[in-house]
Amino acid sequence: MASALNGAGNGGGGLMKVSLLRFQYYCVLGAVAGAVIFATLRYMPAAAGGGGAGALSTTSAVGTAAAPSVSEHRKSKGMVVAAKEATKVKDPEVLVFNFGDSNSDTGGAVAIMGIPIASPEGRAFFHHPTGRLSDGRVVLDFICETLNTHHLSPYMKPLGSDYSNGVNFAIAGATATPGDTPFSLDVQVDQFVFFRDRCNDSIIREESAPVDPKDFHKALFTMDIGQNDITSIMYLPYDQVLAKLPHFVAEIRRAIRTLHKNGARKFWIHGTGALGCLPAKLAIPKDNDGGLDEHGCIIKYNDAAKKFNELLSEACDDLRLQLKKSAIIFVDMFAIKYDLVANHTKYGIEKPLMTCCGHGGPPYNYDPKKSCMGVDKDTCKPDEKLISWDGVHFTDAANSLVASMAITGEYSIPRMRLTSLVKPAKSNDS
Ligand SMILES: *[C@@H]1O[C@H](CO)[C@@H](O)[C@H](O)[C@H]1NC(C)=O
Ligand SMILES: *[C@@H]1O[C@H](CO)[C@@H](O)[C@H](O)[C@H]1NC(C)=O
Repeated sequence: MASALNGAGNGGGGLMKVSLLRFQYYCVLGAVAGAVIFATLRYMPAAAGGGGAGALSTTSAVGTAAAPSVSEHRKSKGMVVAAKEATKVKDPEVLVFNFGDSNSDTGGAVAIMGIPIASPEGRAFFHHPTGRLSDGRVVLDFICETLNTHHLSPYMKPLGSDYSNGVNFAIAGATATPGDTPFSLDVQVDQFVFFRDRCNDSIIREESAPVDPKDFHKALFTMDIGQNDITSIMYLPYDQVLAKLPHFVAEIRRAIRTLHKNGARKFWIHGTGALGCLPAKLAIPKDNDGGLDEHGCIIKYNDAAKKFNELLSEACDDLRLQLKKSAIIFVDMFAIKYDLVANHTKYGIEKPLMTCCGHGGPPYNYDPKKSCMGVDKDTCKPDEKLISWDGVHFTDAANSLVASMAITGEYSIPRMRLTSLVKPAKSNDS
């Protein structure tokens, strides 16, 4: 996607560098996550050469996927069929609003920053880069497909966006903590309220609106954020890391409350992933990282991720009691993503800790200075099934597995299938 981010590609290196710097600046604006974001950016795809997939969110494990616009879908070969099918079966009842970082960015960050995008991002699915930090789809895309609706368009994407089934507010690099990044969760929530109010204005003026104000209460609100907050503090001693986690969770809690106050009723909240299993973290071990566990993942990162999820799950428990007439589902992404690593052979994955698009070969194929950029990168064969696309974000194949597990409800509290949440009761008769 953001090939532009890489300074490396062919030609245009200067331009790319400028873009990259701009991007970084943007990401870093608030600061805390600067380092992380910087790292993320690095692996933005190289310019023309097809660089890495860097995305804004260094932190987020999954790519920044930008929801491909309908036109994007149509352009890509594989998507032609999907787009047609989506049109055919598109469920007019489905409305999704998503908030998050690169794990669910479908092209927002690159659109904002004007970051050039280049192959090999998107090579496995869209067959062209879309601004997602992946070779294909992010988990949110699979969620939309499960709900028989097209991929969500990024709020900030001016061309080809279609908001008739909702909006994706996720921006790669975003934090839950306000001010740490320009599009932190509070801003994304404000953007939702703004969008809803403008729809209302339009209808009152008898103009058309992408979403009928009467329908907002039926919408699904999905969230996947926190990874950038966590990874940006992992340089601290573990007790200090633990002390900060409640603040991140408090922001997510606040966002859910604000959305509820504004009419949101159905929430699908992702916990964070197995951050200690990301090649980008494994390739640059720090003295205070502690050891590796039996599957080769960094214990300290994974412990922090699990603790964060525990707190977030508790917050969801509280909110369930406090917020009337709402359904709040917490999805344990750590369990899902760790299972993928621990039981990788079961999923047909040979090298669970290897980066597909990186540098340096085994064991991690990840060079923090280059990420998924440069003409000399070592990119895995298209038929190789790896978890990690660029060291931080997942491949289309891995995101597909993650999504298929998440939607079952088996990793959720309370246990509920995604489709049952969206279409309660006689949901299946459409
Ligand atoms: C829409 O606008 C009308 C008139 O200003 C107002 O009464 C109503 O509460 C608004 N609805 C929402 C969802 O904001
Ligand atoms: C690996 O798979 C086994 C069998 O399905 C399961 O019991 C175990 O919890 C899995 N490991 C992880 C880390 O999820």
